[in-house]
Amino acid sequence: MASDRQLVVVEQRGAVALLTLNRPKALNALDAATLEALAEAVQQVRGSDARALVLTGEGRAFAAGADIEAMGQMSPLQAEEFSRLGHASFAALELLAIPTIAAVNGFALGGGCELALACDWIYASTDARFGQPEVKLGLIPGFGGTSRLTRRVGVAWAKEIVLTAATLKADEALRIGLVNRLFEPDELLDAALKTAEEIGRLGPVALGIAKGVLQQAQDADVELAHALEQNAFGLVFASADRDEGIAAFLEKREAKFEGR
Ligand code: CAA
Repeated sequence: MASDRQLVVVEQRGAVALLTLNRPKALNALDAATLEALAEAVQQVRGSDARALVLTGEGRAFAAGADIEAMGQMSPLQAEEFSRLGHASFAALELLAIPTIAAVNGFALGGGCELALACDWIYASTDARFGQPEVKLGLIPGFGGTSRLTRRVGVAWAKEIVLTAATLKADEALRIGLVNRLFEPDELLDAALKTAEEIGRLGPVALGIAKGVLQQAQDADVELAHALEQNAFGLVFASADRDEGIAAFLEKREAKFEGR
């Protein structure tokens, strides 16, 4: 039964949380229930000892966007509420204190592209497809595309992508900086998990603080950004991870971080 189905599957593999969108018959289209399941999955990861996260999609899509059938029934107020739900769910993911990687295994269109953008970076398969096709439907991006896409690829590419509704192939997405790296389809997930595992061996306190500063610095003027970095640099010196990281280097051994 559909109601028994987990819309977002959460697995912990060692230090890595793997989240899989799981509505493959609808190409993982994001309806309200899936957005809520995503928010719950993120909450579950927040309460766990995972040190990095990989997000992917079951089947031949990462996510083909917000659920079009559901949107056909919405009033303007319901649509605004739906947009808020998507924003809240994606913001929770973006604000996780651990690095997050989108492993885009197929279509990442509309809300699906916006979801990938809420991760810290994107790895994609060579057959992935990206786009913001909302204007084809008489809609606009509603889950953060106008802001996150601009920050990722610059305003001119964001305008071209949103205002032409064009579908980008993986190599073009790589070229404009939407995607960090491409992998063969059967190698993508392992590559993302391997990177996440390697991150899991780094200092968790430093990772969380560095991610926060990178995030905040995007929206700050350069003097404030520098001040944020100086404060945060001082802050990590209060962590046991700093003691362990420096001791391990001096003793020529691998650090064993406790994340405190
Ligand atoms: N919402 C709901 N259902 C969707 C969907 C979506 N966004 N995308 C695909 N599906 C469903 C299809 O209706 C179809 O269901 P049935 O088998 O029951 O007919 C199933 O997934 C498979 O899709 P297709 O048969 O269309 O597969 P295809 O390979 O021929 O085409 C595709 C794939 C090009 C991705 C095509 O499905 C497509 O164009 N999907 C819509 C993409 C889109 O416009 N996304 C933006 C949505 S708006 C948005 O996201 C707003 C926002 O920012 C908040």
